[in-house]
Amino acid sequence: MPLLSIQDLHLEISRPGSHVSVLHGVNLHVDAGEIVGLVGETGSGKTLTAMSILNLLPSGARFTAGVIHFDGVDICRADAEQIHQLRGRAIGAIFQQPRAALNPTRPVVDQVADRYADLLGLGRRAALDAAFEQLRQVGIPDPRVRGKQYPHQLSGGMCQRVMVAMAIAAGPRLLLADEPTTGLDVTLQDQILRLITNLSQAAGMAVLLITHDLAVVAQTCQRVAVMYAGEVVESGPTDEILSRPKHPYTVGLIEAVAGLEAGRRPEAIPGVVPRFRQPPHFCPFVDRCPRAFDRCRVERPQLRALNGQEVACHLYAETTTGEAR
Ligand SMILES: Nc1ncnc2c1ncn2[C@@H]1O[C@H](COP(=O)(O)OP(=O)(O)OP(=O)(O)O)[C@@H](O)[C@H]1O
Ligand SMILES: [Mg+2]
Repeated sequence: MPLLSIQDLHLEISRPGSHVSVLHGVNLHVDAGEIVGLVGETGSGKTLTAMSILNLLPSGARFTAGVIHFDGVDICRADAEQIHQLRGRAIGAIFQQPRAALNPTRPVVDQVADRYADLLGLGRRAALDAAFEQLRQVGIPDPRVRGKQYPHQLSGGMCQRVMVAMAIAAGPRLLLADEPTTGLDVTLQDQILRLITNLSQAAGMAVLLITHDLAVVAQTCQRVAVMYAGEVVESGPTDEILSRPKHPYTVGLIEAVAGLEAGRRPEAIPGVVPRFRQPPHFCPFVDRCPRAFDRCRVERPQLRALNGQEVACHLYAETTTGEAR
């Protein structure tokens, strides 16, 4: 049993005057201790997938099909007490823009100490000691001094380390990291990714790392899932996916990065991610796909196993060799 297993997850958001099917067939699993990347263009549903795992939905949103199993709990149908035990405890989370997520009016060590007090029931003194120690663990130099500073006195990289310290206070089995290094310079990005990797290895903590940067995935993740327009269209071991992508969308993503590295103008895949009122009954990538054919317009491809990878594409429908038709 994987630690986290998402099967055929569907999520809709209804508001007066608008109705969107934002997730329609997310399939994903994360084993204990492994780091899995979740990639895809803006608007593909990565953040909503992470929010679903925390059962933290925007107003008007509801699950319409599928399951999320985490460590034996069915998250979509969990009661308030079960959710309480998961959020911050069994599942930690960090997001983009750490400074915005911190309270600007309190020293950072107090904010970390609050987690120890709330989550583990430590008294004030013990919580503060634990917080200073955790700040040291996540690589804040001189934590007894830096910890007493306010978020605006710390760099973006330091704020993200504080967020990591808060997220792992209760020793979670899974860390959700949603674009944790976006906006940081390359050196800081590298340091934060190394921190996450080290923590994962030291504590056997699994990580779902959301990013749209394939270089980050190559550096950090054992496996990767590629999302497009509300579903996972391809997944597998990182090396395999990056060296032998199958889905034309993944091929396009990788070519765009290769073009950038070769100093060419970034050739993004032409077009934008579509939005759907209902789960589509055709391939969601059909309008942008250079290899689309008739079947793609009338039938949605299902994710299926192929040589240790999984791909949702009619090009591979009848083959077992991994070669496209
Ligand atoms: N609160 C909301 N209300 C309505 N629609 C939403 C809401 N949040 C997200 N969406 C829509 O759901 C889709 C997926 O959004 P999501 O934020 O999960 O994408 P993402 O992959 O995280 O993108 P990015 O890379 O920009 O962070 C988008 O079309 C978005 O407009
Ligand atoms: Mg997002």
